[in-house]
Amino acid sequence: MTQTLRATDKGTAAYKERFRTKVADAHFRQSQHLWLSSIGLGSYLGEADAETDEAYRQAVKLAAELGCNVFDTAANYRFQRSERSFGQALAELFASGAYERSEIVVTTKGGYLPFDTHPPRSRQEMAQYVEDTFIKPGICDWNDFVQGSHCMTPRYLAHQLEQSLRNLRLECVDVYYLHNPESQLAEVSSEEFYRRLRAAFEFLETAVADGKISFYGTATWNGYRVPANSREHLSLEQIEQTARQVAGDPHHFRVVQLPMNLAMPEAFTHANQSYQEKKTTFLETATELDITVMASASLLQSRLASGLPAIVKECFTGLETDAQRALQFTRSTPGLTTALVGMSNKTHVEENLSIAKHAPASASEYLKLFSPN
Ligand SMILES: NC(=O)c1ccc[n+]([C@@H]2O[C@H](COP(=O)([O-])OP(=O)(O)OC[C@H]3O[C@@H](n4cnc5c(N)ncnc54)[C@H](OP(=O)(O)O)[C@@H]3O)[C@@H](O)[C@H]2O)c1
Repeated sequence: MTQTLRATDKGTAAYKERFRTKVADAHFRQSQHLWLSSIGLGSYLGEADAETDEAYRQAVKLAAELGCNVFDTAANYRFQRSERSFGQALAELFASGAYERSEIVVTTKGGYLPFDTHPPRSRQEMAQYVEDTFIKPGICDWNDFVQGSHCMTPRYLAHQLEQSLRNLRLECVDVYYLHNPESQLAEVSSEEFYRRLRAAFEFLETAVADGKISFYGTATWNGYRVPANSREHLSLEQIEQTARQVAGDPHHFRVVQLPMNLAMPEAFTHANQSYQEKKTTFLETATELDITVMASASLLQSRLASGLPAIVKECFTGLETDAQRALQFTRSTPGLTTALVGMSNKTHVEENLSIAKHAPASASEYLKLFSPN
């Protein structure tokens, strides 16, 4: 039997079924016809060394055993090392026969210069890397880069996608994100930004047609959270319309990432987006447009793992640590599918995945946090 090359509805349903008696029902959520765990493993942080590579390899394998089937990385995370650690861990999981490719959702990103294995040691080394990797082979031009580090031309993305597939040892990634596309707005007009976005989406739709990605999206930091009048603001509605112009209703711009945590709740609280001329929150617009939302930085890069105010404990009962409470907040956010948390430490994997047996907080428990008394 030939192996499926991507996550599928059947495969992810089978993964969910493995945990039927072990996790709360709502730990898995169905979106884009896939069953996704409410906690996903991210891989942004950590040293660029062999010890951290090995820690991520082990963390990925343990997380898969404990009910996490969403794994997020990016070409530039730890200078391609995070993708390669994922690649090794996933290859081992699949080769052992314990898990199938169709059960696991793998997401990665392109846009930033990834470098290779370690950061450049000087400006000269950086320029040499760009020259050798991108300029001489004719992949892009120096002025395709914004702020000297971010590019989203079709040829650059095509190169980066191939590199990610190699690193991950996969034939298809489930979601390919444009990484922080709002970076472009530091140097180009909104009109030019949407022109570039459209060209990127044209390429990404061809990558879908070629079977190299299932969906694409935008993984952002400020873009979707800042006020509508700020320069870096991204309109989810306009971005979705751009995908619609490229591929019509069945476009594959289906998954987005933004920070959502106790200290950065804008996606839920701020009406800085719009939908059909009404002001809306980001999560409302995403729900209307059938776009899956994944939270990044669920622990605010570990700063929410201790010292939370007493009210958080009161709202999210039955949990033992502040990290668990912070994660419970994010995974309980209405309209959000997966809370990504960076985990290279196996103790953190166990602590964080242990909340899978708890149902997400109810709307009334969640909203208590936002009530004045
Ligand atoms: N713009 C973007 O696209 C963007 C931006 C940021 C993040 N992301 C994605 O979202 C993921 C999550 O965000 P993040 O990694 O930046 O931040 P995060 O998830 O808020 O925090 C990760 C940090 O928290 C630590 N940690 C995890 N569980 C813990 C626990 N139970 N107790 C104490 N510390 C704990 C981790 O340590 P160990 O590693 O030692 O386990 C790591 O240092 C990223 O990894 C990345 O995949 C995307």
